[in-house]
Formats: sequence, structure tokens, C-alpha cells
Amino acid sequence: MKYGYFDNGNKEYVITRPDVPAPWTNYLGTEKFCTVISQNAGGYSFYKSPEYNRVTKFRPNATFDRPGHYVYLRDDATGDYWSISWQPVAKSLDEAKYEVRHGLSYSKFACEYNGISAQKTLFVPIGEDAEIWDVVLKNTTDEVRTISAFSFVEFSFSHIQSDNQNHQMSLYSAGTSYEDGVIEYDLYYNTKEKEGYYYLASSFAPDSYDGQRDTFIGAYRDESNPIAVEKGRCSNHVQTCYNHCGSLHKQFTLQPGEEIRFNYILGIGKNEGQRLRQKYQDNAVVDAAFAEIKHHWESRCNKFKVTSPNEGLDTMINAWTLYQAETCVVWSRFASFIEVGGRTGLGYRDTAQDAISVPHSNPTMTRKRLVDLLRGQVKAGYGLHLFDPDWFDPDMADVEPSKSPTVVPTPSDADKIHGIDDTCSDDHLWLVPTICKYVTETGEESFLDEVIPYADGGDATVYDHMKAALDFSAEYVGQTGICKGLRADWNDCLNLGGGESAMVSFLHFWALQEFIQLAKYQGKTADVEKYTEMAANVREACETHLWDDEGGWYIRGLTKNGDKIGTAQQTEGRIHLESNTLAVLSGMASQDRGEQAMDAVDENLYSDYGLHLNAPSFSTPNDDIGFVTRVYQGVKENGAIFSHPNPWAWVAEAKLGRGDRAMKFYDALNPYNQNDMIETRMAEPYSYVQFIMGRDHQDHGRANHPWLTGTSGWAYFAVTNFILGVQTGFDGLTINPCIPTEWPGFEVTREWRGATYNINVTNPDHVSKGIKSITLNGQPVDGAIAPQADGSVNTVTVVMG
Ligand code: NOJ
Repeated sequence: MKYGYFDNGNKEYVITRPDVPAPWTNYLGTEKFCTVISQNAGGYSFYKSPEYNRVTKFRPNATFDRPGHYVYLRDDATGDYWSISWQPVAKSLDEAKYEVRHGLSYSKFACEYNGISAQKTLFVPIGEDAEIWDVVLKNTTDEVRTISAFSFVEFSFSHIQSDNQNHQMSLYSAGTSYEDGVIEYDLYYNTKEKEGYYYLASSFAPDSYDGQRDTFIGAYRDESNPIAVEKGRCSNHVQTCYNHCGSLHKQFTLQPGEEIRFNYILGIGKNEGQRLRQKYQDNAVVDAAFAEIKHHWESRCNKFKVTSPNEGLDTMINAWTLYQAETCVVWSRFASFIEVGGRTGLGYRDTAQDAISVPHSNPTMTRKRLVDLLRGQVKAGYGLHLFDPDWFDPDMADVEPSKSPTVVPTPSDADKIHGIDDTCSDDHLWLVPTICKYVTETGEESFLDEVIPYADGGDATVYDHMKAALDFSAEYVGQTGICKGLRADWNDCLNLGGGESAMVSFLHFWALQEFIQLAKYQGKTADVEKYTEMAANVREACETHLWDDEGGWYIRGLTKNGDKIGTAQQTEGRIHLESNTLAVLSGMASQDRGEQAMDAVDENLYSDYGLHLNAPSFSTPNDDIGFVTRVYQGVKENGAIFSHPNPWAWVAEAKLGRGDRAMKFYDALNPYNQNDMIETRMAEPYSYVQFIMGRDHQDHGRANHPWLTGTSGWAYFAVTNFILGVQTGFDGLTINPCIPTEWPGFEVTREWRGATYNINVTNPDHVSKGIKSITLNGQPVDGAIAPQADGSVNTVTVVMG
């Protein structure tokens, strides 16, 4: 079943039926003010951190996505009322027509009902800590109509999210006031000039207002039938204490065919409501702010544009996958409808991986995130796996992004190191390839010399931080020389302790390969030698201990008792995706073993919705393996289609030169391809999700946890760098695609260090991989393309064969 379609011209997903089976969300905000909003206008806003500066309330895990950022309309002649978004009033879909357009950092809600055409566009203007609701009403009848508009937001009970559940004091130390079209919510106990005030303002002079939620909604009612809307007027009730809302009401008289436009503004900061109310009186200023958002994304998407025979791939790469990846880099694992801000969710490994995908579109944020993470690394080389909320200092977020991190761990001595048993064995390693990618993209080699403190004291250059990461993994190995599993590796639920993780050793090998190239480029001969030797040792340990001859694949690891995990002999957890894909991606596996391993992946883990993480799923708890054995079968890490490592398989196949297989795996996971099976998928078709129920679960194919998943960054990185094969390296730009044999070619426009490269690839012999010739502006190229002059537009012609 279909609920909408992709409008590629506008980079929008258009929802034509709002009664989708699960909320389909979008992210508004590119800087500090963020709103997570559904197709029903349900959702919430926060400033910098969803844990500490929660602006509007949301009730997670409910059957409704409520409350939200609503506009109610009322026909004052009849008393009939509705909302511009389908929820919360939820008029029958037979009588009212709704359309929602989720675009890049904005959402448009449109409703046709009762002879009134209404539109509400929500977005966060660049440079402001506020959300604009741009509303247009049109009378499409031949009669004069009297229509009342009411806004509604429920302000967060406290600026601290957990207080919304636990802390009654804020109920008595916050209050609303009203002046000149602005309801201001004063978190009286919060002494901060900015964070202590939220507001809702309107461009019009209101006829009535309410700042008290329960006055607006009424006892034993809810957002679907507020008493104020039913009566046609608010109670002009603002005061201290209890629960607060922002409702500003105005009655409009609309002549036949007449259109009116007004706006509401939701934001934070004392007196800011008045300032922005004045600023956005002029619709031209609103239009300019909206155009700026459009431009913001247009210029980012333009950094890499593809036209290929695969429309789903083009749609996702040219807009949605980059947008999702950037969302993950900016908001990490902070806030969604699943992650509701209960903890500061800057996942170490997550952010280190997300950041590899966007150095071309958002170098500033990539750099900032790298600095955040390097500051969370300890001298011994590993990362503090989670930035504990107690270490989060929101005040630091005001410093210039390029100069200082948002999140600075400042642990007490006792808390500093949780101990090696509480450390994740993979976190720090992801930094190495990401730093290399950042440097090859930007050319900012001086970043490597920047001195950054360690979380436990002392400091080192970025280059030496990288060495510390590699050295740690070389040191913390088990009996066989494979990296120890520690608290977990990439798989949070594989808790091997002193056992050994194949996945981490393969990751270590990949990080070493990237670092060796960097060291060579920098002329650091001693390091090249040291880390080449280290890589050889890692390879030997892996090839000796991790290959399962009977299965023809790589095992997943060893328990602390030396039992192998993931062999053909086993009946549960026989084969795993992470170890096999990384063995190939890292460049360790030979062509022969790589092909065998990936054939086994195809045979055992493939489904029409993507690759399973492991199979068969575990049914027997085994604490030597970890929590994965206690997760229900076919769910999350226990035999679901866990999306994040799926792109590792695309890279692996691309490295093996098997473009048909790479595309088969890509197409299976691509949400675009599930647009007409929403009754199974349920989640939005424009976002990758964390996991899809595996075949061992009755809901096989159901997609869960959209948006904040490492899948998007990896999907983007895998397609652009390995399938389309356009890569930045220390020597320049290389083009080495691996595509389906049926493709006659494709085109890419790539902006790199100020120059544009229009790359035309043809594939006359219908090969998957192999280059016959490359020319740059008509001249043959041997090897990489050196950076061309700033502002130049260059033609690159590639013939495969
Ligand atoms: C989600 C976590 O955010 C990520 O860090 C982890 O790698 C996956 N779960 C797999 O366990």
C-alpha cells in the first residue's frame, strides 16, 4: 500500500494519506534549535540538547504522536472546527483532504475542508533559535466566511526532560505571561538569560489567548477537542504554576476567494518573541528565510549529484540519504520519537562513523565532531563510550563550533575511566578513517598537528591521538592475537569481555590501512614501518584463527573460554554479517576468501528487505556471548535486518568487483523501494531505520527506529565512494566505480576544494569494474586527479572496460 510519493524536483516526500501506520517524522533546524515533527504536526522542540533545554512537550510511547505544534481552525458561523494537520482533531478523510510535504528542514501541512484551503509551513530560520509557522488560509467558496485560528503548543514542564516525569517543583516555579501578541513562558528557577524563557508569538494582534494548558483544553478533554476551540475563544488566562501552553487566537473574515497569511513563532529567549514578531511581520522576510533554508540544502546536495539508471538511488543520494546523514552528525542520537532526550546521546562510535559521510557537505560540523570525540579519548587510546549526562556541559555549546566542542566530558577523577571492562573495543578505531577522509576532502593537513586534550589529562596532536587508538587495539588482544571484545564491540549486545572480536580486528586492519597511507603521505617513514608490521600481525592472526573452512566464511569471534562464535557447526548464530563484510572492506581478505565469505552472506543472510545481522537467531541465552542471546529472535541485534552494517556489504562487493551483487544488496535495503509496501514496512520510506524485523519474527519486514542510525552515513559513503567510486585521497580525486553490468554508465557532478568536476562515465562493454581511460578536460589522466583551480569547472570522461 502507498501513502505518498517522492517529489524529486522539490526534494520533498509528499504524504497523500496522513493515516500512515506509524508517525513519519522530519527534522527542522540546522543549528541549535531543533524540532522533530510528524506528518500530524506531532512532536517537540529543543534548544541545543533535548535533555536539558526541552522547549515543548511530547508523550513518547503513546498510541498518538502528541502533543504537537498545532493550528486549529473554527468556522464561527457553525462552530465546526478542525486542525490544519489531520491530527489532533482528525476529521474524516472522506470529508477533509490532507497533504503533507516533508522537505529538507521544513514540513508543509495542507488541508482542504469546508470551503477553506489551509496551509501551514514549519521551519527554523537560519540564525534564529525559533520555529516559524507560516499559515495561509483561503476562502474557496462564494460566501463570506468567519474563521477563527488558534495555535497550540504545550511548553515543556521543565527545561530538563526527566523533570517532565519526576520533578514536581517545576510545576510551581514556572509561569506564563502575555503582552502584545506574545505568550512568554518563564522557567522562573532557571537563571539563564536565554534558556529560562520560551515563547509563542503571532504576527497578528490576538483576540484572545491562553497560557494555561488546562484552561485551553479543559478537564477530561484532550488535544482533539479543546474547550477553547469549541467555545470559539480563549480565556485570556496566564499565570504562574501548573502546566502551560501557547494559544493565540484571532478571528478572520474572508471574502469569497480571499487569501490571508499570518504566522506564529515558537522560540526561546527573553524578549525574543517581540523582536521576531516584528521581524516576521513582513511576509517577504518570511519568504527570504524560507528561501535561505532551501538554498542551504541545495548547496549541500550540489556537492555530489548523480544521474544513474537507478532512480531510487538517485533520489536517495541526491537528497534524503545525505540529509539523514547530516541529521545524524548534527543531532547524533539525541532526539527522535524513539530517543526522546532522556540522555545526551552523542554515541562515540556512531558519531565517528556518521562524520565520515559529510566532510564535503558540512566540513565545519565534521571537524567539530572529530574534536568532540578526540576530547573524549583517553591517553590509553580508547574512547569514553558514552558521554555521561553528568559530564555534559550545555554552556560549552555556545562556543564557536569550529573552535570548541559542544560536548566536553569533564569527568571527576573517580569517574574518569570506567575501567577497561566497561570500554567498547571498537569506538576509537572509527576515528582513524574519518580523520583521513576529513583531511583528503578539505586539504586541511594542519588539523593533524592540532593539539587536543585527552579526557583523562594530557594532550597530543590529532596524529598522535590516531596512533594511540591503533596502539590500544594492538595491545588489547586475547590469546590468539585477535582484539578483545571488552564490554561490547560495534554490536552493543555482543558482550565478550575477555573474549575476542573478529569484527574489531578487521576494523583495526582497515584503520591501519588508512593510517599507513596518511603516514606515507606525510613522509613519516618510521610510522609507516611500525604500522605496516602491526597490520601484518593483525592479518596473520585473523587469517589463522578466524576462517571457518567448513562454512567458507569468517567467524564472529571467540568467547572468553575460547569457544568459536559463528561456525558452520553451530545451529544458532552460525554466520554473522559484521565480520565477513569487514574482512573484505578492510582489504584483508584475499579475492578467493572474500568471494566465498560474501557468497555465504548472500546465501544465508539475504532477504528482500536487506541482509540479516546473523542467522539463525539465538534462542538460548548464553552470557558468554552476551545480551544478543537474550533479545527476542529476529529482533534488533538478534537476527534482525540490522541496517547499519548492510552498506559494509555493498562496499565489500564493490571491492570484490561484483557490481550486480552490490546493487542487489543496495536495492533490498533502500527505503525508496519499499514505498508501496507500507503495510509491511510501516516506517517512513525516505529514511533508513535502525533495524527491520528478521525472518525469525512474525513481523518480518517491519522497519523500526527511523532517522538516527549509522546506516545513512554508511549508505551515502558506500554509494558515493565505492559503487559510484568517486573518492578523495591524499593524491587527489580517483574514480573507480563498481556498477551493475546492465548500466550503460552514469554521471556525477562533484564539487571538491572549490572546483567542480562534471564526471561522465560510460560502460560500453557492460563490465562491473575496470577503467579503460580517464581524461580531464580532454587530457589523459594517469592515476588521481590533482585539485584544479578554485572556481574552475572541469570535464572528466571515464570509459569503463
Ligand atoms: C545502536 C547503537 O547506537 C550503535 O552504536 C550500535 O553499533 C548498534 N546499536 C548495534 O548494536
